[in-house]
Amino acid sequence: MKAFVLREHSFEVEEMPIPELNSGEVLVKIRFAALNHRDQWIRVGQYAKIQLPAVLGSDGVGVVEKVYNEEDSTWIGKTVLINPNINWGNNPHVQDKAYQILGMPTQGTLATYVKVNRDRLVEKPSYLTDEESAAIPLAGLTAFNALFNKGAVTAETRVLISGVGGGVAQFAFLFAVASRAEVWVSSSKEKVLETCMKLGAKGTINYKNPDAFKELTKSSVSFDVIIDSAGGDQVNALLSCLKPGGKYVFYGATNGIPSGLNLRAIFWNHLQLLGSTMGSDQDFNSMVAFCERHQIHPIIDKCFDFNDTALAFDRMAAGQQFGKILVKVE
Ligand SMILES: NC(=O)c1ccc[n+]([C@@H]2O[C@H](COP(=O)([O-])OP(=O)(O)OC[C@H]3O[C@@H](n4cnc5c(N)ncnc54)[C@H](OP(=O)(O)O)[C@@H]3O)[C@@H](O)[C@H]2O)c1
Repeated sequence: MKAFVLREHSFEVEEMPIPELNSGEVLVKIRFAALNHRDQWIRVGQYAKIQLPAVLGSDGVGVVEKVYNEEDSTWIGKTVLINPNINWGNNPHVQDKAYQILGMPTQGTLATYVKVNRDRLVEKPSYLTDEESAAIPLAGLTAFNALFNKGAVTAETRVLISGVGGGVAQFAFLFAVASRAEVWVSSSKEKVLETCMKLGAKGTINYKNPDAFKELTKSSVSFDVIIDSAGGDQVNALLSCLKPGGKYVFYGATNGIPSGLNLRAIFWNHLQLLGSTMGSDQDFNSMVAFCERHQIHPIIDKCFDFNDTALAFDRMAAGQQFGKILVKVE
């Protein structure tokens, strides 16, 4: 089979043996994979416990071609999406120490075939195309956990989705709009902000404008919840836009650790800083059900041919995308 393999000095298509199944496992022939920033961090060596060579890719949709156990044969021929959690564990709020994400150290979805445990499979929702389904797993789960479990966003909430051009953030945006919250968005790209207004945003902020957050606080617009993954020194400006008792929910730190945090503003205003990761298997199922109930169609940025996978990573590294970047594997 073909696999896009990351080695110390190369990142290209190689021939690999088809994975051998063990009890409980199934073989999925991948049709589309989707990128997450995790893949890019690993590619550039900025991720914990990197093991090379690696076949990256946590998201995929494909057809079950083979099963190990006969009782799983009903899966054969079904188009499925894959829950990328491995060993979340029993605590619904926090992952276990044995937790892993599909795609490094286990073989990921940037390959013709991937083997996963049968309990990772969810039938592809019929209202979605294969491409749209491939976009959902990791980013949808992360957005769901941050928005609903941590942010407790409802129709009564005014929420800011920061960096809405990102793969996770566009889900947070779509989910928040579907929940009838009052949704504001920030981005570096005017076109993305315009599109979000058409899709139901109430207001926009271009975070490249150095006065954007000051102007907002002067205008007396403030948020119950901010969902962010950029971090960096912008965090204090974001915190200044929260209502007293508001929540800053963050699931990443793309721009690094803030050089200083305004602790006085945080305690005086009873602000809550809530870290978040992907989510439990129960959250995964709830997230897919939420997508079906609200007929969520992920925003797809661009789909690359398998041989151009490295270009897909370059697009993400340059931050050029609006939504999910896909790779057509089959
Ligand atoms: N903890 C977890 O389980 C988990 C899960 C998923 C992702 N993450 C992390 O979350 C981050 C985003 O992941 P992703 O897959 O969504 O990445 P992505 O698709 O590459 O999106 C990155 C987005 O970050 C935004 N951004 C950059 N600088 C910003 C700033 N100063 N303020 C606000 N937004 C800014 C950009 O938004 P615009 O294009 O709109 O400017 C960009 O599109 C990464 O650091 C990733 O590692 C963590």
